Amino acid sequence: MSEAAPTLGEIQKRSEEFLARKGVENPRGNARRLLAKGLGLTPMQVVLQFDRPLLEPEIAALRALVVRRSQGEPLQHIEGSVAFRHLEIFSDARALVPRPETEILVDLALERLAGVPKARVHEVGVGTGCVALSLRHERADLVVTGSDISPSALELAAENAKRLGIWLPLTQTDLLEGIAPSSLDAVVSNPPYIAHADLAGLSVEVKADPVLALDGGPDGLDLIRRLVEQAHAVLVADGWLLVEHGFDQGERTRALCGEGFKEVRTVQDLSGTDRFLVARKA
Ligand SMILES: C[S@@+](CC[C@H](N)C(=O)[O-])C[C@H]1O[C@@H](n2cnc3c(N)ncnc32)[C@H](O)[C@@H]1O
Repeated sequence: MSEAAPTLGEIQKRSEEFLARKGVENPRGNARRLLAKGLGLTPMQVVLQFDRPLLEPEIAALRALVVRRSQGEPLQHIEGSVAFRHLEIFSDARALVPRPETEILVDLALERLAGVPKARVHEVGVGTGCVALSLRHERADLVVTGSDISPSALELAAENAKRLGIWLPLTQTDLLEGIAPSSLDAVVSNPPYIAHADLAGLSVEVKADPVLALDGGPDGLDLIRRLVEQAHAVLVADGWLLVEHGFDQGERTRALCGEGFKEVRTVQDLSGTDRFLVARKA
């Protein structure tokens, strides 16, 4: 007599145990999302179909996904996309995986530009394009542009823009090089801000992000230091500079602003951690 085919519930349990043994955080949630991806279901449908017997080819495909995850490939790369605010953003090894805390950067910009029709906003270091695309999606009158130094990130951002049908002119440049003086109402950026020495200690998932997206130089502030200086030149008077930074960089980033900026403050993320520099050109 042939053995009964394993059910989806049994495969969920085995996958969860395997991921737990491999040290993957939240093995249950990871297993559920991988099974959902592999079977073309939502995670909720996976739970609702726990009694469904699986065919051998389905099990083999799911096993391959679980093995990839156990080897440290980010869940978002395996799934191929990330929910960011109201958009589904394609994510792969070409750019940093969009992080939930970065959604607040969009709120900070929208709040400050609420009374400025057709405000001109430039995002430095677009990566997947999640921030710039959200700004344009949520405020269609904004004139949003973006840049990155990485050609592969720009390629991915352009693909996301095209797929979502959002107009986003992109250029390859070093920070704000080439942008006309006093031409922007806001500069927004989530630049690389991890100190050199801390890179080695990052989780295997974070190490899957391009090093260009992470490495902020010896003290983590190389990019932000130059960005503050260049932003002052390209912003109009009263224009806004909004920058995401590391948990321990609030005081040091405020200090970089000097006399050229006013209303300088640090905003916390949802966990209460210092995360964003907000400053206005004096
Ligand atoms: C932390 S990632 C942020 C990506 C995206 N904005 C997000 O929030 O998910 C930083 C981005 O800055 C880019 N970058 C690094 N150095 C740069 C430079 N000198 N000029 C412009 N972009 C740079 C990286 O390629 C990367 O895409």
